[in-house]
Amino acid sequence: MNVLILGSGGREHALAWKIAQSPLLKQLFIAPGNAGTAVIGANIPISVNDFDAIKLLVLQKDIDLIVVGPEEPLVKGIYDFFKSDSHLSHIPVIGPSALGARLEGSKDFAKAFMKRHNIPTAAYQTFNAGKFDEAIEFLKKLKPPYVLKADGLAAGKGVIICDTLEEASMELEEMLLKSRFGKASENVVIEEFLSGTELSVFVLTDGKNWILLPEAKDYKRIGNNDTGPNTGGMGAVSPVPFATESFMQKVVDRIIKPTVHGLAEENIDYKGFIFFGLINVNGDPFVIEYNVRLGDPETEAILPRITSDLLEAMLALHTGKISGYQIKTDSRKALTVMLVSAGYPGHYPKGLEISALDKTKDCLVFHAGTSFDDSGDKILTAGGRVIALTSLAQDIHEARQLSYKAASTIDYLGKTYRTDIGLDVAE
Ligand code: AMP
Ligand code: GLY
Repeated sequence: MNVLILGSGGREHALAWKIAQSPLLKQLFIAPGNAGTAVIGANIPISVNDFDAIKLLVLQKDIDLIVVGPEEPLVKGIYDFFKSDSHLSHIPVIGPSALGARLEGSKDFAKAFMKRHNIPTAAYQTFNAGKFDEAIEFLKKLKPPYVLKADGLAAGKGVIICDTLEEASMELEEMLLKSRFGKASENVVIEEFLSGTELSVFVLTDGKNWILLPEAKDYKRIGNNDTGPNTGGMGAVSPVPFATESFMQKVVDRIIKPTVHGLAEENIDYKGFIFFGLINVNGDPFVIEYNVRLGDPETEAILPRITSDLLEAMLALHTGKISGYQIKTDSRKALTVMLVSAGYPGHYPKGLEISALDKTKDCLVFHAGTSFDDSGDKILTAGGRVIALTSLAQDIHEARQLSYKAASTIDYLGKTYRTDIGLDVAE
């Protein structure tokens, strides 16, 4: 099969690495890809949102399956674009329809879906600018901290947590009345704050049946001990010790089953990944958010633990063979450390040369934000998150040693990383 992966981050490099191991694969293309994916397949410099260019590529290269990495093309309807084009409708797209993608594209849609299907989540209400005064009254009824969420996609920045009512009122004014996130904050979800430990749970579903993938914990804050601003993710571990059998049974019964059942009941076409952003509140799981794709950097930690053929599993979504499909996993612990640019998640430089990429040992090196220089000889930084380093070992300490050895070897100006990934879950 010829496969096209859309995206250019660490998640897509990990997907390319995994798919390249499948005996079903003939040729692999990544659009636009990065300097890491270029070694595994052919990078094609087109945008993930340029559906017409993707169509041309798919027809030219005889692509048999498309894996969509990021959420934006899904929310913009790439699945439906393929389905409604007679030249393309036979080509499986791994990802939901635009309606299914609203689980991530609209916080209000996701919350209402959870309410309809009795899925545990924080209590909430949604407001628009016309309801500003009511929104303030609602805030007054809640206890601090206050959680405000822009309804639409806001590049991961749309959630604001405020400690005081004054701060929350000001932020709400910015979002609803001053279009802080443009169209994305035309509606704002205000919700109850939940206190607990977060984890990321993933399934692959055809909208009726589902397979559970390994779970992971993401380290979202820039600084050690979860300090400083939120980032896309500074590291990950898989498995997660508090995801015990009994906790995961609650996740399955209270969250995964009703979600997939809800999709089927509402006739929502969904053949792809669901990423459940969960929080463990005193032993009970609640949904913080749905994402309609794999997580980054969680993907870099979970795919190396899957020993089955992921391409075969994805294909099964479209051939009705997902029921009873078993994913085999490696019982070892995976730990991912993300190297980022100085200044991230604020402003950061790009185009700095990365050295010693080939000098690491016993560690998977996934490129996130990298590119080649004009001559094609040097590899340069090209994003906030630069390189993800994943190690597999019997215990977390050993995995930490391997990933951190690689983190100190690879170098570029301003290299920044957390040094405490996995410490909280080490035996
Ligand atoms: P999101 O963009 O939905 O992933 O939210 C970003 C982060 O905000 C989450 O990962 C949580 O750490 C935090 N968060 C979101 N909603 C809540 C909530 N209801 N209670 C506590 N923390 C939350
Ligand atoms: N690591 C969180 C995300 O991918 O959204």
